[in-house]
Amino acid sequence: MRRIKANTAAGKSVVITGGQLEDLPSLLPPSGLFIITDTNVRALYGESFPAAEVLTIQPGEMSKTLTVAGDLCSRLLAAGADRSSFILGFGGGVVCDITGLVASLYMRGVRHAFVSTSLLSQVDASIGGKTGVNLGNYKNMIGTFKQPEFVLCDHSLLSTLPDIELLSGLGELIKHAVISDRVLFFDISASLSRLFDRDPECLEELIYRAVKIKADIVRRDPLEDGPRRVLNFGHTFGHVLETAYQIPHGIAVMEGMLIASELSVWKGELPYTEARLLKSTLESAGVTNLHELPENIIRLIQKDKKSEAESVNMVLLQSIGKAVIRNMHIAELQDFTEYYKQRKI
Ligand SMILES: NC(=O)c1ccc[n+]([C@@H]2O[C@H](COP(=O)([O-])OP(=O)(O)OC[C@H]3O[C@@H](n4cnc5c(N)ncnc54)[C@H](O)[C@@H]3O)[C@@H](O)[C@H]2O)c1
Repeated sequence: MRRIKANTAAGKSVVITGGQLEDLPSLLPPSGLFIITDTNVRALYGESFPAAEVLTIQPGEMSKTLTVAGDLCSRLLAAGADRSSFILGFGGGVVCDITGLVASLYMRGVRHAFVSTSLLSQVDASIGGKTGVNLGNYKNMIGTFKQPEFVLCDHSLLSTLPDIELLSGLGELIKHAVISDRVLFFDISASLSRLFDRDPECLEELIYRAVKIKADIVRRDPLEDGPRRVLNFGHTFGHVLETAYQIPHGIAVMEGMLIASELSVWKGELPYTEARLLKSTLESAGVTNLHELPENIIRLIQKDKKSEAESVNMVLLQSIGKAVIRNMHIAELQDFTEYYKQRKI
């Protein structure tokens, strides 16, 4: 078991990798516990939950709404939760995002923590204190920053995770490497089959290294107005594809990374060979059938960026392991998307 601090001015947080569910009782208060989970996770792990009132949501992105968050608050009230209560989100990124939001809103804020059950939430969604729900088709439009007191990552929980969700988590794992750790990128590329076999040593090591990257970035920039923005590599195009085609978040991010790497080549920032290297690793992981960019892509990007401005910040690559942020005029981005739709690769 390894403990990684993800403290920020907004609060203290520790991520425990290589932990086990058996460690939970020592981390939780003796009473006043409420668990938020989804029906899949409850069916698989409900019997291992600590004694608590359990509130269940439907699995998947459709549950990330203000309506569901409001409903959870009503159910907390009906079940007697007060300001001294403690909320444990037990699930993947959807459960973590909505639990964090509920914990920051209910009675103006109650203590909370996560047991992170998907690869994507273990390496990314549960770390850093970003909470949120979607507004219609726009991702994470409503949210807050609130740090979970702890995040418990037990990689044995990934044994029940469907392969497509493992692939989705691999997307964020590869992204962490691509933006800041070239050696990790090659280590992941060489470990794909062990990852899909849920090899415990491989999972523990790669999850630990990915969590360290995210925690280091979050510590330096808790409110995402500086270096943390590199974590959005692949997300500008990815969010649009995720919503348009209803595909898992991390898979959309992988497709978004491929587009962003082509944009980086187009802008003269990234050697073509580096873009090819990323593409071949993602192909080996199973990302082969890429979705087309929707017609109104620029409008959707402006909405996703929560901005009507004439320019947007894009995360580009200079090499695998080094990301940079560049402000691009909308007209230039439009030129690129036209080029991208017509190119033949
Ligand atoms: N807050 C952040 O910083 C942040 C960062 C990245 C992504 N996210 C968000 O995370 C969400 C995606 O997270 P996700 O990929 O974990 O999705 P998810 O929570 O929907 O989980 C994916 C599926 O796997 C199931 N599942 C979870 N754990 C399981 C297990 N151990 N065994 C079997 N099934 C299991 C779930 O029930 C669900 O059906 C997106 O909404 C994304 O926006 C947030």
